[in-house]
Amino acid sequence: MRTIDDLDVAGKRVLVRADLNVPIEDGRITDDGRIRAGLPTISTLRERGAKVIVCAHLGRPKGEPRPEFSLAPVAARLGELLGAEVAFASDVAGESARTTAGGLADGEVALLENLRFEPGETSKDDAERGAFADRLAALAELYVGDGFGAVHRRHASVFDVPKRLPHAAGGLIATEVAVLERLTEDVARPYAVVLGGSKVSDKLGVIDNLLGKADRILVGGGMVFTFLRAQGHEVGGSLLEEDQLDTVREYLRRAREAGVEFVLPVDIVAATAFAADAPHDVVPADAIPADRLGLDIGPESGKLFAARLADAATVFWNGPMGVFEMEPYSHGTRAVAQGLVDSGAFTVVGGGDSAAAVRRLGFAEDGFSHISTGGGASLEYLEGKALPGLQALED
Ligand code: 3PG
Repeated sequence: MRTIDDLDVAGKRVLVRADLNVPIEDGRITDDGRIRAGLPTISTLRERGAKVIVCAHLGRPKGEPRPEFSLAPVAARLGELLGAEVAFASDVAGESARTTAGGLADGEVALLENLRFEPGETSKDDAERGAFADRLAALAELYVGDGFGAVHRRHASVFDVPKRLPHAAGGLIATEVAVLERLTEDVARPYAVVLGGSKVSDKLGVIDNLLGKADRILVGGGMVFTFLRAQGHEVGGSLLEEDQLDTVREYLRRAREAGVEFVLPVDIVAATAFAADAPHDVVPADAIPADRLGLDIGPESGKLFAARLADAATVFWNGPMGVFEMEPYSHGTRAVAQGLVDSGAFTVVGGGDSAAAVRRLGFAEDGFSHISTGGGASLEYLEGKALPGLQALED
């Protein structure tokens, strides 16, 4: 894969596909991790005299402009972090984008409006996507792919534009791929994987693939109740994917056969309702009362998980252990994060919610070897899937 060192960017208009999909509440960015992760590539291009045109998506506005999904607050934050003016185009590849991109001097930066305001960005129709990619590509002379969090999407800005312009991978993609290679080739063992989050159906591919690779798989979060139910336990009103029970039973069987250790919680924080102030208790994982729902792994499980991470040499973690946004249900996620920090292993926190969780719970980022900006992207990489955004950069 070519890197930006292989491109002569001085004086050129360079389109950078970044992943600036940050959480925004009431117009305020609540976690700017992805914006910060994109800074080194943008700064390098500026220093080398490029005219930098950044494009990115925010949320899923479904092909039409919706003010609540505008990237305007992101442009402001990007400018603050760069310590430089960021010109903001009020459309994606129209009049405003052309004028804004055309008006940049060497070393200046612009951000285009949310790519997903254009139906062509996410279209499944090659011609529609291609027509939009033509308009985007016309804004620049070179393309740098740096939106790691979106490389698993076959979208115009990720997949089609690099076919139209000389291209290279930015520093973030290069770093993320190097880390994921360490998780797939010559992995230092024991290799432990911690999976959480709400849905087991989002993690099937990765579990399937890891059954041949990981030494231990620790499961928490909403998805764990499908595992507990598959073992015949009562889960009360907890999240449950009935249609995945057979698949999960099959994974447990294959794990026994392959000598992969599945570590499931032994206790659960079970509440009367999905609310921070609902009455809640710690109950055995195999005896959740029928009128309760599990919202976190319990304290004994936190200790058990930390113990199974303590002697690991490599740890990958994706998905919170409970509803960490509510203090009473944040302790399991905290215990796992602390377990990673204390393990001395090569530790990777995989994207999205887990990355936001460690920052929100106050952990220093340098306590982990790597915090990925890609949740879905890193999972699909570990599933062994070809990622369109990486393929396009390799061609
Ligand atoms: C993410 O948030 O994981 C990436 O930005 C991709 O977003 P998407 O799942 O909406 O494609």
